[in-house]
This record gives sequence, C-alpha cells and structure tokens, in this order.
Amino acid sequence: MLLPVHLLFIFLLISSTPNALPFRPGSRPVPPTAQPKFREAPAFRNGRECASPAAASAATIHIAMTLDHSYLRGSVAAVFSVLQHAACPENIVFHFITATAPSSADLRRTIASTFPYLSFRVYRFDAAVVRNKISSSVRRALDQPLNYARIYLADLLPPSVRRILYLDSDLVVVDDVAKLWSIDLRSHVLGAPEYCHANFTSYFTPRFWSSNYAASFKGRKPCYFNTGVMVIDLGKWREAKLTERLEYWMRVQKKYRIYELGSLPPFLLVFGGDVERVEHRWNQHGLGGDNLQGLCRDLHPGPASLLHWSGKGKPWLRIDSKRPCPLDSLWAPYDLFHHSSLFSDS
Ligand SMILES: *[C@@H]1O[C@H](CO)[C@@H](O)[C@H](O)[C@H]1NC(C)=O
Repeated sequence: MLLPVHLLFIFLLISSTPNALPFRPGSRPVPPTAQPKFREAPAFRNGRECASPAAASAATIHIAMTLDHSYLRGSVAAVFSVLQHAACPENIVFHFITATAPSSADLRRTIASTFPYLSFRVYRFDAAVVRNKISSSVRRALDQPLNYARIYLADLLPPSVRRILYLDSDLVVVDDVAKLWSIDLRSHVLGAPEYCHANFTSYFTPRFWSSNYAASFKGRKPCYFNTGVMVIDLGKWREAKLTERLEYWMRVQKKYRIYELGSLPPFLLVFGGDVERVEHRWNQHGLGGDNLQGLCRDLHPGPASLLHWSGKGKPWLRIDSKRPCPLDSLWAPYDLFHHSSLFSDS
C-alpha cells in the first residue's frame, strides 16, 4: 500500500503551508459529502507585464472576505470572478474570515480543493467579541456576528498587511481588481463609492437626531456608502484606533437604539463625510432586491466593474428555486457549484 501513504504525505505537506489556521487531520468526523461540492477552478497565471509575486510584495493585492456555510457559494463565485478578470492573478492574496471552529476547517478544505493554486489564509473570528455588542436589526441576516468582522480586520490581519480590499460574499468583480486596489486614498482611511442623493436622515432613528449624539456629524457632509466594498488603509486605521470608535457607537446603539440596520451605521458615524470617493462602477449594489418584498432590481445607469447582490435575495437561492431575476444571469457564469443531481452518490 505504497501509493495511499504517499498521497497522504503530499496531502499533509499541502496542508501544513504556513497559514493562520493550521489544518488538523481528523478534527471533524464529517463525511466529505456534507460540504457542498464545487468544480475545480483552473490555474490563473500572471501576464508578462506582472511583477513576480514573490519578488515584489508591494505588488501584492490583499483581499478580505468572510466565509461561512450559507454564503459559501457566493464567496466561491466572488473569488472566481476576481481571478478571471485580473491581469496579475498570482499577485492576489485572499484573507478569509470564518466564524468559529470546527466549521472553519471544512471551509478551508473547500477553498483549497476548489482553488488549488490560490494564495490564501484563514482567520477565525471569535463571535463572542461582538455578540454582546449587537442589537437586533430589521433584517436578521445582518445580525450574524460574522457580518461585523469587517470592523476587526485591523486586528485580525497581520501588521504587514497595510492596505486591504474588503469584499462582501454576494458580489462578482467583472474588471481588473487592481484598478480598485490601487486608488489614491489621499488623506482618507477608507475609500468606497458614495451616494449623496440617498436620504441620510433615514439611516438613524428620530431619537438619534434629537439627541446630543447627532452633533458628531457637525462640520461633516456625510453621505451613504455601502460597506460591502471598501478599500482600507489598515496602517492608519490601527494608528487612529478606529475599531474602538466603531465599538463605541455599537455600545451607544445597544443602550439608545440610534439606528435600525446592522453594521452599516457605525461606519457612517465614524467615516461619513471622510470617505475617498470611488467610481460608482465599483459597487453596482442592490441587485438582491429590496429588503421587504425582494423585488428584482435593474442596474444603475453607467458602466459596471462590480455587481453586488446586496438586499434580501441572493442569486444562488433564486436560481435554485427556478425564480431568478433577469440580472442573476450575470452571476451564473461564476457559479462553480456542482449540483447534487450530477452525483449519483448524494
Ligand atoms: C428623509 O427621511 C426622514 C426620516 O425617515 C424623513 O422624515 C424625511 O422627510 C426624508 N426627507 C426626504 C427629502 O425625503
């Protein structure tokens, strides 16, 4: 039985690459079929114009995403889309944030088998950090602790990562992500598309606007921005201890109910009016439909580099239920999910 031992050795070798979350064989007695199956993505190679990934860490693009079972299919599609449109895909490093063990080991295995050539690390986010800081919002999905992980990127990622592109798991990138990554943040810590026509008042309760807390917006011209796509200077974030400022607002919320949504309003409170404006093409959001009825939405006018199914509906669920919205056909080509009907054993 030389061959199986040999294969096992190779498997262990692959699994022991220096990642934040070491793979522990046998840590979870679940048959492989319990994880959704994905087709293996091909190897995406750098073009000739690219700096070699090992030689120039300055050329590295760091992308952070959360990873959980309910959005796994979306995360896989997002990664696939990023790689497919990047001129220098080998220069991209993914930083996946998972909730807690033991599921994180499964998720890690799924990513490794779907993207055998991907540079990635997995970090465990301890939900206890936020659980007592979260107050219930209008949409229960927004109350998941992992939804708040974006507040803790500066602590979760190593200090060597000084800039991060945070991406939600319900989007696809249809342009070279390097263009978004390399924007000039100028004096700002955070870059994102802003929407100044949105009624900013409505993101906070009347109680907030009639309280002294409203004065925190004095001298600023805050606009709505979506926290699903953000370029963040982690170095400046750490220096300014912005995680603590976001946590401050979460504590205020817990006590006084100053807003209705989940993790967005603290970001508006800390960064509103101090955001580097990114072209709207980098977050064509709302494709999931409205929060109440889940009606289909159309694209906003103008070009699109990133399509975002924010809102209640998710394309993989609508496609599976045979009731897709028209624009879900733009997500489908990035879906690597292997439907179980294709497997005789599941
Ligand atoms: C903005 O929203 C607030 C609170 O929801 C509302 O009272 C106000 O009339 C709205 N303003 C506009 C211009 O729609």
